[in-house]
Amino acid sequence: MEKKTYYITTPIYYPSANFHIGHCYTTIIADAIARYRRLEGFDVCFQTGTDEHGQKIENKAKEAGVGPKEYVDAIVENAKDLWKALNISYDKFIRTTDSYHEKAVQKIFTKLYEQGDIYKGEYKGLYCTPCESFWTETQLVDGKCPDCGREVHEVKEEAYFLKLSNYADRLVEYIETHPEFIQPESRKNEMINNFIKPGLEDLCVSRTSFRWGIPVPFDPKHVIYVWLDALTNYITSLGYMSDDTSEFEKYWPADLHLVGKEITRFHTIVWPILLMALGLPLPKQVFGHGWLVINGGKISKSLGNYKDPREYIKDYGVDAVRYFVLREVPFGNDGVFSEEALINRTNSDLANTLGNLVNRTISMANKYFDGTVTNKNVTEAIDQELIVKVQEAKKVVSEKMDQLHVSEALEYIFEVLRRCNKYIDETTPWALAKDDTKKGRLQTVLYNLLESIRVCGMLLSPFLPETSLKIQQQLNNQEESREFLSTNTYKVGEPSPLFQRIDKK
Ligand code: MSP
Repeated sequence: MEKKTYYITTPIYYPSANFHIGHCYTTIIADAIARYRRLEGFDVCFQTGTDEHGQKIENKAKEAGVGPKEYVDAIVENAKDLWKALNISYDKFIRTTDSYHEKAVQKIFTKLYEQGDIYKGEYKGLYCTPCESFWTETQLVDGKCPDCGREVHEVKEEAYFLKLSNYADRLVEYIETHPEFIQPESRKNEMINNFIKPGLEDLCVSRTSFRWGIPVPFDPKHVIYVWLDALTNYITSLGYMSDDTSEFEKYWPADLHLVGKEITRFHTIVWPILLMALGLPLPKQVFGHGWLVINGGKISKSLGNYKDPREYIKDYGVDAVRYFVLREVPFGNDGVFSEEALINRTNSDLANTLGNLVNRTISMANKYFDGTVTNKNVTEAIDQELIVKVQEAKKVVSEKMDQLHVSEALEYIFEVLRRCNKYIDETTPWALAKDDTKKGRLQTVLYNLLESIRVCGMLLSPFLPETSLKIQQQLNNQEESREFLSTNTYKVGEPSPLFQRIDKK
């Protein structure tokens, strides 16, 4: 039987030499979801990439005294290097300067022009270069860009427009009849009430005042608006408008576009309208996640309030960074980042709850049974409470992940781990070890612990892949089931600490 497919994307990132921990959020969460789906047996396509055109990049290249292509080529590796350091398991990496993408975007533009969805007119308006966004006077906040608060400037030029207005009714109807399309719910209401219902103005989709973009094929003094270029990455990467569309047929429509809240608007208004105009099905879901903020404000280069994420990875380990990001931002809301909070989480959850449990249990298995443990079935009532909690874990994680409640999925696994620690206190293996008649019971207790750790280790693999592997290695057990089994056998290896407690100084 063919596997069910799952196509998940992150936004494509503006290439940068200055990524911060907030930038890692979308990608880490997408990675955890992609890994989880693979574990569930899906044929996953997980895509990320870089968004390399536009005035902002052209300006930066000028400042650096190099051509734009040279500029992006040099820093695109920075994104790939960061994703590698974070253990991001993407299947595809698209660059919008890839020639297959450029050709497909030109074909899309031409098709929309020929069928009348794109027309030529004159653009007069306000533009925010850092956000590559057009605004109307009424959308400004205190005369500044409503997204980033920076200055906008007036532009006036001959331009092509996409008839968003033609599709507004269809879009509202679609959103209202597909409650899962925009998540969380609050963003859906924001899109309908603040943007669509007040009336959609046609979108300017070409520029003539700078050169760094994909030329309009039949009018090359125009370059195609960077957001039209960028959004189509989700289909051009699959071969849409190329000679080989097999991947497109296999994976489209996307199951999930995961995006930060500030770009939800592009993904739930402009993107679906483009797809409707192309006669294509819409993605099943766009999830607009919250931000990681510092002291209530955005993490930003200009404020200089961050380190390169690789510094944290170097100091605390990749899974400490992944864990913090996944655990700290509740479903759809903002989460607060600080190095101190990262240290606290690592110490309390990873070093104490998880690390100590694994270390203590493996040490006891070595000390009392030379590492070889089987279930002697000398049970007591107290075992059931633990086993039931472990048994439920797979189901709970599955329910949470289906709703993208990633933080809550992790919370449950750590609840199970805490229950294991309590089980050690309740069963006092060190006391059982002193009594020869209790050896059978002691073995069952250690078995229950090892098997619970194994299940939690398997369940943690999408979130903490490196740690999960270390746990499996220390347990020296090949069983991949995520259920509590009563007839496994263990011959454990030597314990080695999974996480060191971090001294705050
Ligand atoms: N290039 C556009 C996306 C085009 S998609 C067709 C873009 N790029 S970006 O580099 O600015 O942002 C990439 C992702 O990082 C976005 O999802 C954005 O929300 C996310 N984040 C950037 N700073 C963030 C935080 N402080 N916190 C959480 N995520 C944030 O937008």
